[in-house]
Amino acid sequence: MKRINRTFSVAPMMDWTDRHCRYLHRLISKNVLLYTEMVTAPALIHGDADRLLEFNQSEHPIALQIGGSHPNQLAQATRLGCEAGYDEININIGCPSDRVQFGRFGACLMKEPELVSECVTAMKEASTGAEITVKCRIGVDDQEPKRILPDFIDKVSQNGVSSFTIHARKAWLSGLSPKQNRDVPPLDYELVHEIKKERPELEIILNGGLQTFDQAVHEINKGLDGAMIGRTAYHNPMEILANADSLFETNTNKKSVNKIIDEMLPYIQNHLDTGGRLNQITRHMLGLFSGQSGAKIWKRTLSDEAHKKDAGVEVVQNALRNVLEKQNNSE
Ligand SMILES: Cc1cc2nc3c(=O)[nH]c(=O)nc-3n(C[C@H](O)[C@H](O)[C@H](O)COP(=O)(O)O)c2cc1C
Repeated sequence: MKRINRTFSVAPMMDWTDRHCRYLHRLISKNVLLYTEMVTAPALIHGDADRLLEFNQSEHPIALQIGGSHPNQLAQATRLGCEAGYDEININIGCPSDRVQFGRFGACLMKEPELVSECVTAMKEASTGAEITVKCRIGVDDQEPKRILPDFIDKVSQNGVSSFTIHARKAWLSGLSPKQNRDVPPLDYELVHEIKKERPELEIILNGGLQTFDQAVHEINKGLDGAMIGRTAYHNPMEILANADSLFETNTNKKSVNKIIDEMLPYIQNHLDTGGRLNQITRHMLGLFSGQSGAKIWKRTLSDEAHKKDAGVEVVQNALRNVLEKQNNSE
């Protein structure tokens, strides 16, 4: 089994980290680990698995995130993910949405460590090359994280699953929306550090609320195995991802935004040629100039133009031209 370097990863995000988004992120960083959106095990088994699992070869290393709580279904989904060529299969024990709770998976499984242990054991046995990992919270509802998280990790890791990404806040299963559950419950990074200190043999990755690349590096340097960033990586990919390769190799070449846009053009053209629409890709590119002069005009041009029928790559080229004009004028 190929060992994956998880020093830095982009979080799984439904509706955001689709294959177009990941293609863009891969152009910005050669090494960060990319996660898919969550796909449920039943959707893979009964749905169009080929379409759901499709990715571009350039996206490696890539992890498939699955949701479920039936060991047999998760084993089947794992087999499908392995056949499709994923490097890692991750189980979601963090999503608090009603839909997910109804299916008895996601964050509510923090209350059922024995079942999660059965699930990951089945996934491990079914895997033909992908590493099995877990993404979890520190607890749910009125659970006491300091008491239940160590117990959860110990039970789930007992059969050889050794990599945990911990979203360092609880989830409230009723009363808060999924969005509020990413902001309202307080973060507890110290607990994640304690888990790592007491279990040095496990790989422990911190997730939740990291705002800058430097902050992520600071937390890693305090003794963790890696950091996973979600929203900030999506909204400001250049700040977060363009620096990340320096964690994996020396002498990295940071690409300019213009170069990345240039490299996106053939990919976009190919998507359009095969019947796709421009804004399916450009919606992930809106944050490319975040914090820089021209950010507003870039976003506005793409938002106003890219959804139009027959919009082509010239929309992106125009948007870039507008940015460069703005930047030249403000110099
Ligand atoms: C739009 C959106 C969709 C998300 N979908 C998923 C998901 O499918 N699976 C999952 O484990 N977490 C999901 N999350 C949670 C993120 O993976 C991450 O744990 C959370 O956003 C905290 O990290 P951050 O503060 O760096 O964004 C989602 C977050 C967002 C913003």
